[in-house]
Amino acid sequence: MMQGELTVLGIETSCDETAVAVVRMEGGRPVVLGERVASQTDDHLLYGGVVPEIAARAHVERLDSLIGLTMADALAGWDDLDGVAATSGPGLIGGVMAGLSAAKAIALAHDLPLIAVNHLEGHALSPRLAAEVDFPYLLLLVSGGHCQFLRVEDVGRYRRLGSTIDDAVGEAFDKTAKMLRLAGQGGPAVERAAKDGDAAAVLLPRPLIDRPGLDMSFSGLKTAVRRAIGEGEPDARRTADICASFQEAVADILAMKSGQAMAEMKGLAARDTFVLAGGVAANRVLRSRLEAEAHNLGFEFFAPPLRWCTDNAAMIALAGAERLRRGLTDPLDTPARARWPLDEASAASAPVYGGGRKGAKA
Ligand code: KG4
Ligand code: ZN
Repeated sequence: MMQGELTVLGIETSCDETAVAVVRMEGGRPVVLGERVASQTDDHLLYGGVVPEIAARAHVERLDSLIGLTMADALAGWDDLDGVAATSGPGLIGGVMAGLSAAKAIALAHDLPLIAVNHLEGHALSPRLAAEVDFPYLLLLVSGGHCQFLRVEDVGRYRRLGSTIDDAVGEAFDKTAKMLRLAGQGGPAVERAAKDGDAAAVLLPRPLIDRPGLDMSFSGLKTAVRRAIGEGEPDARRTADICASFQEAVADILAMKSGQAMAEMKGLAARDTFVLAGGVAANRVLRSRLEAEAHNLGFEFFAPPLRWCTDNAAMIALAGAERLRRGLTDPLDTPARARWPLDEASAASAPVYGGGRKGAKA
């Protein structure tokens, strides 16, 4: 295993954020030297959702300058890098290809090892950007495309304990926002509107919470929200009540299932640790509810700062550096993958890329 210092460029393009970061590992701790995110929210506004082709083109247009600017922020030249990491899936395939191709070009031109990072591994390791979170830990990963409980044993070792059987939580937030015609990104818009609402005003279901097992379901909740909206447009008061009630239902489901997961995991590790990560972890109501649940059950609680909950490249550079440190690099013909379950992104993918000027160090 590589010790000491190591600097990695990270690229994230799996959805609608073009993100680049430079992360340096110093004595096993990450330092973010430079980090930029170019959001595409405005590019997709007209369409009520992310348009994959527009996203891919926007990544291509922005990547080169964003990489240059981030390297300048980090005061880093190509010679300072030990590797280049990019999200290789899962995600919108055109965007993933754009970021991965850029990383491959840099790896080839500057003779650096390539690290193909699973986007979910980035989220899974993201709390370690800001705090010392030791392995193993229980993780609830909640994003626009995923909602799952994982046991994070180590870098590259993830065991899925349960997941949504239909919609992801972020998706439920986004669809609720769309049905209510709220402006901006779904999750933050619902959270904002919910502030003025009464969480007990609208009766909504909590699917699957009384069932054993750690699977979750959100599509019934979405249907119930549609029914609560009914015909016509709800006024501001009613909109706030629906948002608050929806958020409360999500909080109940996640808290109940997290409690169950923690009960199953309790005492299995030297420290009982519960981590919340992914875009939906930016929601303050959910964060504080799950933190309280964790503390009640004697677990330490971690969630990344908001900017590292939603898609970012610091988490990809960190995952890249951690993998590089363990000799887990990838060949230059590594494919972009639309689907890629995290349990398959394991350390089992042996070190296959032996090349690279600094490859020997890795
Ligand atoms: O991790 P992420 O940025 O991208 C994916 O990997 O999917 O997560 C995006 C999701 C979106 O569904 C977005 O609406 C949701 O995270 N989200 C939130 C909040 N901020 C972002 N959901 C609830 N409350 C928020 N404050
Ligand atoms: Zn994400």
